[in-house]
Amino acid sequence: MNSKVVICGAGFLGKHIALALTSRSILSSSVIHQVQLASRNPERLHTLLKSTNSGILPPTSIDIIDKSTLSSAFYGASLVVSLVGIMHGSPADFDQIQWKGAENVAKAARDAGARLVHVSAIGADKDSPIPYNRTKALGEEAVREVFKGKTEKDLVVLRPSIVFGPEDDFFNSQQPKVNCPKGSSSAVSYDLTSARYNPNDCSGTAFRAATLDHCGFPPVSSRFSKLSKFLPFLPVFGGGTSRFQPVYVGDIARAVEIIARNDPAINAMVGGKIIECGGPDVLTYKEIMQLVLKHNRRRRPVVSLPFWMGNMQGAVMEQLPVNLFTVTRSQVQQLNSDNIVNNSASENSMGTEYFPFDALVEKYSISGTKSLASVHDVLPVYLT
Ligand SMILES: NC(=O)c1ccc[n+]([C@@H]2O[C@H](COP(=O)([O-])OP(=O)(O)OC[C@H]3O[C@@H](n4cnc5c(N)ncnc54)[C@H](OP(=O)(O)O)[C@@H]3O)[C@@H](O)[C@H]2O)c1
Repeated sequence: MNSKVVICGAGFLGKHIALALTSRSILSSSVIHQVQLASRNPERLHTLLKSTNSGILPPTSIDIIDKSTLSSAFYGASLVVSLVGIMHGSPADFDQIQWKGAENVAKAARDAGARLVHVSAIGADKDSPIPYNRTKALGEEAVREVFKGKTEKDLVVLRPSIVFGPEDDFFNSQQPKVNCPKGSSSAVSYDLTSARYNPNDCSGTAFRAATLDHCGFPPVSSRFSKLSKFLPFLPVFGGGTSRFQPVYVGDIARAVEIIARNDPAINAMVGGKIIECGGPDVLTYKEIMQLVLKHNRRRRPVVSLPFWMGNMQGAVMEQLPVNLFTVTRSQVQQLNSDNIVNNSASENSMGTEYFPFDALVEKYSISGTKSLASVHDVLPVYLT
């Protein structure tokens, strides 16, 4: 069976989801995914993936704000993965992208007869003063409304905590550290059995089918690891006591691949539900900073600054172009609350049921290591 999957948002998650979908198609005789990358400028990622990956279709340029760009891109799709989100911008930008734009994507997906995986975030809350959290909730609500009724089960909402992996924008500072044998063109392989990065496996096994060559990929934007290069200390606000549950990008990709199989039993379990995605470790903001320093081997004190200082920094930085030191007042506020999976509730305030992320990934992953990846195991592989 052939299936066209449109990945809307060709960024960090989009790349790993594309890899997982096309890798699976090589191993599975029942579903062959053809993946179409769609964003305003999807060519760069397309160029990177197409050389090693036969399941990648020509990319399509879309702008989710402009509905008219979506229908032709979604034509013939069986699944749309809605990933477009922003971290910076005015409240109006957040409304346009994460609320109205998400709704446009959902409508176009439904009209094309496709199922939808909509990626929101833990912390989505309609009453939040933080534009990111507020519009993530409004986006979810709008998307749910679009799929209400007969197509209700065709929608799955994923809500990740912070996502880690090579090229993430949180921990990372550079390209993945790799150690390829001489003559190998591949730098990092996607290990399908564990869906983890295996930087030293360049041996050409079946699992190398989805190998991705990072050579020539320019260094990506950085966060805390890079900050620690330039600052004499790493700052946390308000003691850094809020908790996070970092989730590995490969595990999110695994979940999407499982949903994309369109298996009736899996659809019945997760259709219409919210899946909050967190990894096996819960760490405070301060512990995360300490982990970064441990793995990039820099000695820096972690210094707690009061929230008002963060807000002052935010007020200034918001006026400047985005740079390494950019932090917005909203982000400072976000750092003041926990960002972990809600294990206690069976449904959220809107009455939507939750489905556990670990149960989905650990039960339905293809053979090999099935447990969720720990930040303690993966971070040393790529952090510099
Ligand atoms: N990364 C995390 O830690 C994390 C945590 C929780 C939730 N999430 C959510 O997961 C989703 C994916 O995150 P990510 O880290 O993969 O983000 P990302 O790397 O920034 O990718 C987002 C992509 O959206 C595209 N885009 C932006 N505006 C667009 C528009 N108007 N129309 C079409 N495409 C547009 C951008 O590509 P172009 O510039 O080519 O358009 C970009 O590649 C987001 O919704 C995010 O909120 C992420």
